[in-house]
Amino acid sequence: MLSQTVLHRIKAASHVCVFTGAGMSAESGIPTFRERNEGLWAKHDPLEVATPEAYKKNPQLVWDWHVHLAEKVRKASPNAGHQAVAKLQALVPKVTVITQNVDNLHQDAGSCDVLELHGSLFRLTAFVDKNVMYSDERPPVICHLCKGYAVWEQCDHFADRSDLAELKLATGRVPRCPGCGALLRPDIVWFGEMLDPCVLEGAVDAADSCDVLICVGSSLEVEPAASLPYRALRRGAVVVEINPVPTALSATADASLIGKAGDILPGLLRQVWGIEIGR
Ligand code: OAD
Repeated sequence: MLSQTVLHRIKAASHVCVFTGAGMSAESGIPTFRERNEGLWAKHDPLEVATPEAYKKNPQLVWDWHVHLAEKVRKASPNAGHQAVAKLQALVPKVTVITQNVDNLHQDAGSCDVLELHGSLFRLTAFVDKNVMYSDERPPVICHLCKGYAVWEQCDHFADRSDLAELKLATGRVPRCPGCGALLRPDIVWFGEMLDPCVLEGAVDAADSCDVLICVGSSLEVEPAASLPYRALRRGAVVVEINPVPTALSATADASLIGKAGDILPGLLRQVWGIEIGR
């Protein structure tokens, strides 16, 4: 339950930021990462399947692991929590969704302003090996399709954007960019990689300017994402956390609502705006 003060501040907010992690999609059937027994990292060592080094060592193994995850994600539909987040757009002048998830479920539910901090399983990009040296005689160019570094002579300048768009995470050999021949990879952020600076800047701006931040289903163990709710909190924004178990944020948040996203988010809409979202 929310206190009357928090409830009124949410109702009066002109910018609400919803910050989400894997728990947001748990009720859609997508496993979280760090939960004991069922979490993805309980079953697989992230260093073997989610780093550039792992991909360089064995691209097919890393590709196959992501295909398996993508198959689960493609079968999933938004749950009542995603729907409640999308519904917020009709209730608050500005809503920004900052997600660590790569499953597109916020967009599928109808959320428009979604910042994908960790990328998306629905896009492919070139694997750029930063250790590869290009000589002066063969300086690299940026491939017009995958935006990866490429050697000019190896590029097919007639290859079309649609040739790349047709490729997706699917069973089989790791595909190559139709433009430059580079090995492709899912456009997600692996361990040890930088976030897209534009996306991160957008997320920082949102955390720094919102009136309310609702943090849903994240263990808050991965930086820089984990700092965003604290930025909002330090500035005096109302911070509400939704999670079945307490996290490091729970003690300092204005409200820590213990429970599942699919139950608590519709309950929050009911309590603040009197809106019903079906399960
Ligand atoms: P975690 O797996 O670390 O945390 C998931 C959180 O969701 C936990 O705190 C759970 O208690 C909570 N949870 C579980 N079921 C829930 C439900 N039904 N409703 C609400 N909360 C629930 O996932 P993240 O915090 O998202 O990075 O992990 C952050 C990043 O670490 C991920 O984006 C991923 C991973 O390595 C990349 O892939 C780059």
